[in-house]
Amino acid sequence: MTSTYDTLASRLQSAFDTLEVGADPVLRTSDRSDYQANGVMALAKRLRRSPRDVAEAIVGRADLSGVATMEIAGPGFLNLTLSPGFLGEQLTRLRGDDRLGIESVSHSKTVVVDYSAPNMAKEMHVGNLRSTVIGDALARMYRFAGHRVIARNHVGDWGTPFAMLIEHLLDREEGGGATFSIGDLDGFYKDARIKFDADDEFKERARARVVALQARDPETLRLWRIIVDQSIAYLDLVYRDLGITLTVNDVVGESFYDHMLNDVVTDLQSAGLIVESGGALCVFPPGFTNRDGEALPLIVRKSDEGFGYAASDLAAVRDRVDNLHADEMLYVVGVPQAQHFEMVFAVARMAGWLPDRVRCEHVTFGNVLGPDRKMFKSRSGETVKLASLLDEAIERADAALKERNTDLDETARTQLPVEIARAAIKYADLSTDRHHDYIFDLDRMIAFEGDTGPYLQYAHARLRSIFRRLGSPWEPASVAFSLDAPQERHLALGLLAFPEAFEASLASLQPHRLCVYLFDVAQRLTAFYDACPVLTSVGALREQRLALCDLAARTLSSGLSVLGIDAPEQM
Ligand code: ARG
Repeated sequence: MTSTYDTLASRLQSAFDTLEVGADPVLRTSDRSDYQANGVMALAKRLRRSPRDVAEAIVGRADLSGVATMEIAGPGFLNLTLSPGFLGEQLTRLRGDDRLGIESVSHSKTVVVDYSAPNMAKEMHVGNLRSTVIGDALARMYRFAGHRVIARNHVGDWGTPFAMLIEHLLDREEGGGATFSIGDLDGFYKDARIKFDADDEFKERARARVVALQARDPETLRLWRIIVDQSIAYLDLVYRDLGITLTVNDVVGESFYDHMLNDVVTDLQSAGLIVESGGALCVFPPGFTNRDGEALPLIVRKSDEGFGYAASDLAAVRDRVDNLHADEMLYVVGVPQAQHFEMVFAVARMAGWLPDRVRCEHVTFGNVLGPDRKMFKSRSGETVKLASLLDEAIERADAALKERNTDLDETARTQLPVEIARAAIKYADLSTDRHHDYIFDLDRMIAFEGDTGPYLQYAHARLRSIFRRLGSPWEPASVAFSLDAPQERHLALGLLAFPEAFEASLASLQPHRLCVYLFDVAQRLTAFYDACPVLTSVGALREQRLALCDLAARTLSSGLSVLGIDAPEQM
């Protein structure tokens, strides 16, 4: 179906085109009327005419018959009010549309989303949270829009730390054959580190092992695989617990690009881009300077002949463009790596590896802070594991449910704490403008009131409970929408605005916009319940209200699911 917004926009566009082809009507939902078109002001300025004059011309030329009425407000704003007939028709169409007005794109793109990317030698911690949650939401949104998404989990699975872990693994195997268990990944890493710092003989062995790893010595690779496989199996558990769509197949880490790195260097050399500086091989992309105005290098190969982080990212760009045929590439990585990515993209463009038609974006985000507004740490000052954060949230959700003491069936009761905990953590992250920091406050995040995940879940479950209380399935052939109560109309308008909220959220790569929209729907619902009894109303009025409730429930559940948040039936 054509969304309400798109219908209005295209009618207005035809009128604007008569004055200047392509002039943007700047159509928005509005508090003063249903929609507002603010494009007259800018157009009048360009045409050197009075805004009033231009507004009158648009009103005279726009064909809005059967759709809306339009009046001029203030110096030249256009207020639009949907006609009752059109509003009813749109709601009826929405009822019959699985996608609730969001059309699947006509040209599907291949979109590579690089996200999560923990370091394999460590357990996942709060520092991995935002990339994982935001990246997964964006991947889901792109899929829902109809694109082909290739997820890339660019894990740190190569290099010096692994040499150390391999030696430690060997020591442990010898001492009684204890198998390396990922349950204590951090402990394993810490023990290896302590030995490395204290024991010269161990240090020597680890150094030799780095060389063997780089040389792809088969026995070394076998041991490396054991560690990596177990780490990935552990990762998979965390993703499953958090409801993240990444799978083992999406793990394409630094080790995967290792064999491409020599080509990266030779090809940059033959393109004449490599400059040797103190033994290191560098590229100096124009426009990057340090504080003293000196050109900044992107170091492709270090002076010890080892490859750095930049080399594998250059190889990854080539792989994604040439082999995966990416039309779009998103890198959901924290803001401290902004310069790294800008330089990598610049060098890839210089080398001709990144054509202009490929949209390439570093999707940055702020930090997760503790109550003291400093980086979030445990009380003992250590990084907080994601698994323990989730456990704590589950416990609190369970306690909150006990307190509410609602009548829930057995399966719902066991699943709910997990669903609520995930919602609390994910929504708190996603509903913050990703550029901003936020404070990790479980009490606030898990509250059933306020702008929280559990609140939206509750708004959804409350709607479903209305239908459960009906006793029999509700599926009328047609519903007449008169929308006499202003709260009904207000809710209906909110439901019709799902497509533009989704599209704006996706276009700006800002999941919080979709959160803002869903929270607004939940608030419209509250006003609606206060003024419009549903189950105690009768006849056509009751049918209409049930239809609005049904649409609202579907909107909330689709909206939440596209963000990666469960919408349980009962709460
Ligand atoms: N593992 C890296 C880190 O800890 C993040 C990787 C992000 N992705 C990428 N293509 N560089 O910083």
